[in-house]
Amino acid sequence: MRDDTAISADILHWYDHHARILPWRVSPADRAAGVRPDPYRVWLSEVMLQQTTVAAVRSYFRTFTQAWPTVSDLAAADDGDVMAAWAGLGYYARARNLLKCARVVADQYTGHFPNTAAKLLTLPGIGPYTAAAVASIAFDEPATVVDGNVERVISRLFALTDPLPGSRPRIAQLAATVTPRERPGDYAQAMMDLGATICTPRNPACGICPLRPDCAGFAQGIAAELPKKTPKQPKPTRHGFAYVGRASDGAILLERRPDKGLLGGTLGFPGSDWGADPDPVPPRTADWTVSGEVRHTFTHFHLILTVMVAQIPTEPALTPAAQFNPASLPTVMRKVWDGAQPGICELTNDT
Ligand code: ADE
Repeated sequence: MRDDTAISADILHWYDHHARILPWRVSPADRAAGVRPDPYRVWLSEVMLQQTTVAAVRSYFRTFTQAWPTVSDLAAADDGDVMAAWAGLGYYARARNLLKCARVVADQYTGHFPNTAAKLLTLPGIGPYTAAAVASIAFDEPATVVDGNVERVISRLFALTDPLPGSRPRIAQLAATVTPRERPGDYAQAMMDLGATICTPRNPACGICPLRPDCAGFAQGIAAELPKKTPKQPKPTRHGFAYVGRASDGAILLERRPDKGLLGGTLGFPGSDWGADPDPVPPRTADWTVSGEVRHTFTHFHLILTVMVAQIPTEPALTPAAQFNPASLPTVMRKVWDGAQPGICELTNDT
């Protein structure tokens, strides 16, 4: 293998010609001409991209930056508006931490993100990956950025056959040896693009890969099998009941979950605990009937919810029909709403 600067030079050369055009990205040509990325946009995109694809993030990124063009605008936003705009992206703790972080940057850093990975790490919701990504992309600090794409590229480049997650420390060490001091921001994005477009999980396009001359995995004919992974435990299935109560004027019974825990801070339909054999716990006394069943998979378990519907008496706590927007619910609750439609059509309705 050639020396480490040759590897980063090859990938940067490739990036200069093949960088993806992304709404939060300063192109390599613009960067070379002196355009600096807006740290707010870099941070926002990196938080959104954790566990989420580029394709899914694009429209959310546009919505957020149009509604809140600066970190101070976001800091001043209403919590409910931000949670509603985040609905569908999943992992809602990210949205709560996003707001917390924006408020710390606005209040304690006069609206300017700190410019090192070490300082970024002290902010809410910013872990080692995001700190390194923002420090390198926004501020050109040669921090080592390791996401799933980079893990794959490094595992193949060095033919690491130890399985993930145990191999992570070794991957981080090797990734650091390849990270250049020149153009570290472009380099980080080049690694991500290479992992997303060429060094893909299945059927990597080794024939057009700029790192092929250096790739030990390719040389040994094992690139496509890497990285190895320790088999995951199968996900358990939990069950629960969700209650869609609607008054005769169309108003809906919704509740906001406590901030902590799964779906914390999000709006949804009341329900039972989720477990092996949960008891039904109707939120109001009414003639509840089964309308449907919905399935949703979270990171650690599958969920099957029985959707119950009923007409309930009018009360001030209900959300008026005109203010109810199913698109502002997390995906599992949107599925519950869909599952409630057959039952709701059976209910009498004044409207
Ligand atoms: N995935 C996560 N962060 C990214 C970025 N900045 N560019 C491309 N893909 C990414």
